[in-house]
Amino acid sequence: MSTTTRTQVIIVGGGPSGLMLSHILAQAGIESIILERTSRQHVLSRIRAGVLEAGTVQMLRQHGLAQRLDTEGSVHNGTGIVWAGHEQFFIDVKKHTGRTMMTYGQTAITEDLYAARDAAGGVIIEAAADVALHDITGSRPWASYRQDGVMQRIEADFIAGCDGFHGVSRRSIPETVLQTFEKVYPFGWLGVMSRTPPVPEIIYANHPDGFAMCSQRNPMLSRYYVQCPLSDTPEDWSDDRFWNALTTRMGPVIADQIETGPSIEKSIAPLRSFVAEPMRWGQLFLVGDAAHIVPPTGAKGLNLAFSDVFYLSRALIDFYRTGKGSGLDSYSETALRRVWSATRLSWWLTNLLHRFPEQTAIDQRLQEAELDFLRRNEDAQRALARPYVGEPF
Ligand code: APR
Ligand code: PHB
Repeated sequence: MSTTTRTQVIIVGGGPSGLMLSHILAQAGIESIILERTSRQHVLSRIRAGVLEAGTVQMLRQHGLAQRLDTEGSVHNGTGIVWAGHEQFFIDVKKHTGRTMMTYGQTAITEDLYAARDAAGGVIIEAAADVALHDITGSRPWASYRQDGVMQRIEADFIAGCDGFHGVSRRSIPETVLQTFEKVYPFGWLGVMSRTPPVPEIIYANHPDGFAMCSQRNPMLSRYYVQCPLSDTPEDWSDDRFWNALTTRMGPVIADQIETGPSIEKSIAPLRSFVAEPMRWGQLFLVGDAAHIVPPTGAKGLNLAFSDVFYLSRALIDFYRTGKGSGLDSYSETALRRVWSATRLSWWLTNLLHRFPEQTAIDQRLQEAELDFLRRNEDAQRALARPYVGEPF
C-alpha cells in the first residue's frame, strides 16, 4: 500500500549537493527529504577530486562542517606547474588574490555531511527506486518512488534535482526547454591513491607523453594522476608502469620528492565539459552534476556544486522568510554565470596541459610557449589565480 508524505523541499540525490542543501535548509528551519537511489556505502565509496576553493571552505565553516577539515585538511597558497625540463614554476594564488585553497577529499566531506544530517535527525531515504517527478510546473509538485516493492508519494513546494549527471531530474525537463552543451575529451585520467607522504604542493605537468599531476588527501595519503588513452583499463597499468610514467612526466627534481608505494586504488575517469540551461523549470531546480560536468583539471566539480547550493539555499530561505521569489527567479542565471566561469577555466587548463591525439610538434611547442608566457607575466598569473581559487559567490 502506498503512503503520501508532505515536506517543503524534495531533494533527489544524496551526494554532496543534496546533503549540503538539506543541511543548510534544516539550519534555517526548512524541512526536506532526500531520495537516494543507492546506499550511503555506495555514495561514500566514490573517490573524487580534493581541492576546496576559499569560498567552499568558508561555507563549510559557516555551517559548522569544518571541524575535521580544519584538523586533517591542509592549506595551499598556490600550485606548481612543470614542463619541458624547466624548474617547477609556482602560481602564487595567495599573493595574487589574498586567498588560499585547502586539500581535503570529497569522500571525507561526504562523511562529515552524513554525520551532520544524522545528528540533526535529517531524513535520507536510501534505495529509492524509479524516482519520477510530477506536476513540476504546478504549485504542488510531487515525487513518486518505489521502496521494497511499494510505491510511495511525497508532495512538496519545491524539488531540488541533486541527482548527478545520470539522474532523473534533468531528464524531466522537456527537450524543447532544455539546451545542452557538451565536449568529450579524447583521453582519460588514471588516478592512483597510495599510503605514502605526498609531495608538499599540488603540481601539474605538461609532457610530450601526456599530462600528470601530484595531489594529496592527508599527510599519509597521496593522490596522483597520469593522462591515458580512454581505451586503457586499470589492469593495463601495473604500479611500476604508473610510477615510471608519473616520475618521467614530472621530471627529475620532482621525481626525487615522490615516495612510491603500493597503490590502494586505481581507476580511470573520462573528461567531459557539459552544461545544461536553464537550471530551473517550474518548481524544479537543478544543482551540481545534474546540471554541469567539468573535466577534473582544476578540481572545480565539488566547488561548483556547492556554489549552486549556496545560491539555491539563499533563495529558498528568502522565499520562506519573506514570500519573495526573486532569488528563485534569478537562480538559474546567477548559478550559470559561475558555472560558465569554471567551465572555461577547466577547459583552458585541460587544453594547456594535455597531449591531444592529433597534436604535432608545433602544438607541443605552443603549449610550452603559453606556459612560458604565464611564467613571465604577472597579469596572466593573476588572471589564472582568481578563478582557480574561486570567484566570490
Ligand atoms: N534517484 C535518486 N537518486 C539518484 C538518481 C535517481 N534517479 N540518480 C542518481 N542519484 C543519486 C546518485 O546515486 C548520487 O548519490 O544522486 C547522487 C548524485 O551525486 P553526485 O553524482 O556526487 O553529484 P553531486 O551531489 O552534484 O556532487 C557533485 O560530485 O561528481 C562529483 O565532481 C563532482 O565533486 C562534484 C560532485
Ligand atoms: C585531486 O586532488 O584529486 C585534484 C587536485 C587538483 C586538480 C584535480 C584533482 O586540479
